[in-house]
Amino acid sequence: MTEFSAPATASPPAVGHRRLLTLLFVDLSGSTAMAEWMEAEHYATMLAGLRALYERIVPHHGGVIARIQGDGMLAVFGHPEVREDDGRRATEAALELHAAVRSLMPPGLLPAGFVGLTLHSGIHAGVVLVNEGDQMRGRFELLGNAPNIAARLAEAAKADEIIASDESLGLQSQFFETGPRFVLQLRGRATPLAAYRVFGRAAVGRRFEASVRRGLAPFVGRCSELTRLDAALAGALSGRTLWLGLRAGAGVGKTRLTEEFLRRAADQACRIHRGYCESYLSAEPLQPFLQMLRGMASMADAPPELFAAQHSPPGQRADALLALLLALARRTPQLVFIDDLQWADDASLRLLHRLRTGALAQSLPLLLLSASRPQPGMLPGTHDDPAELIELPPLTELEAARAVQQLLPQIDPFIAAEVQRHAGGNPLFIEELCHAAADAGEGLVA
Ligand SMILES: Nc1ncnc2c1ncn2[C@@H]1O[C@H](COP(=O)(O)OP(=O)(O)OP(=O)(O)O)[C@@H](O)[C@H]1O
Ligand SMILES: [Mg+2]
Repeated sequence: MTEFSAPATASPPAVGHRRLLTLLFVDLSGSTAMAEWMEAEHYATMLAGLRALYERIVPHHGGVIARIQGDGMLAVFGHPEVREDDGRRATEAALELHAAVRSLMPPGLLPAGFVGLTLHSGIHAGVVLVNEGDQMRGRFELLGNAPNIAARLAEAAKADEIIASDESLGLQSQFFETGPRFVLQLRGRATPLAAYRVFGRAAVGRRFEASVRRGLAPFVGRCSELTRLDAALAGALSGRTLWLGLRAGAGVGKTRLTEEFLRRAADQACRIHRGYCESYLSAEPLQPFLQMLRGMASMADAPPELFAAQHSPPGQRADALLALLLALARRTPQLVFIDDLQWADDASLRLLHRLRTGALAQSLPLLLLSASRPQPGMLPGTHDDPAELIELPPLTELEAARAVQQLLPQIDPFIAAEVQRHAGGNPLFIEELCHAAADAGEGLVA
């Protein structure tokens, strides 16, 4: 990695900013041979088609095109803001680009044996020095080794292959079907690089499901919160309408706590519905409620409202879903959980409010449970609402120590203390650091 020293002056506009970026490098497979048999005009038309795809698909996933050179393209994810799912976004973009290019037909006469257009791609994350506002090219300039490594990964990929480094995907690799982890020795990099071939999307929607696939750490703490949740459920079972919001930052354990609670609630006389909102992939309005609807597909003794909701046109879907959930609550107590409410679409938020108001008006047994991260400004879904809020704190030192101990029973006490110091009671960080420590044998980086 090229090292850059800090700017010497207090106003360093030309020096740029260090950023952790995820880089996607995409190239057209076999393009040199293609340029030989294709008419120049046809080649230019094909390139224009390819560029149009880059320009449509990359921003759709939150990326920015840094450079297009011939048929190749370098895109960055995490600029201007780093996002926790940049690796996932870059990979989603690569998958969509590959699929779109497979269906592109080059113009003109095609030679015998031509099997179609394909891309090959590399994805890597690393610290890059970003120079903004290059007037000459109108784009920013990226300095550092990470873009080269993304390009080297693309070079190592065969036609229609996507290779992503461990740095770029990490736990997010669980969102995808990947090949086994392998190690590459790349030009321009001193240490070997672990990477995967990405084949497609896996049926995993939330990071939590990815954690479940990898194996969850034993549950620790959260006694008082579970007591409050149990009390809310008891309230709903005795005929009340309640809305309980869980709030905490990323990885503090909202989903895990809820899943533990829902496991206990499964023994109670209530029907449980689950839905979650997504940060960007959910083009589908009402996603969490539609997930609940799908979960009811095999319901025995379904009310007529279920059929109506399943067959409602998009414009009447919210009304039909409302009617369905209220009809169910008139029969038995219902528990409706929506995860990641901070990403809910407006239609879902409106429906949540209407559901609560409707159930209150009819005195129906309904527990609405939502989990969300604190938002700057107003919290969606509760800003005009007296919903009861549980602010989930980080794990205490004792709980964190137990979590580390249970994840790595053989851990060196010094490394255990380091994990705790870095994680600050955040169970996600504890898990990640323990996995990293386990992968590295002893070598936890302080
Ligand atoms: N009390 C706990 N005991 C043990 N592990 C926990 C606990 N709480 C959370 N974890 C683990 O930490 C990880 C992060 O937790 P979780 O996914 O619930 O966080 P979250 O608050 O829902 O984060 P996000 O806002 O990103 O959805 C999970 O893998 C989970 O299993
Ligand atoms: Mg969560």
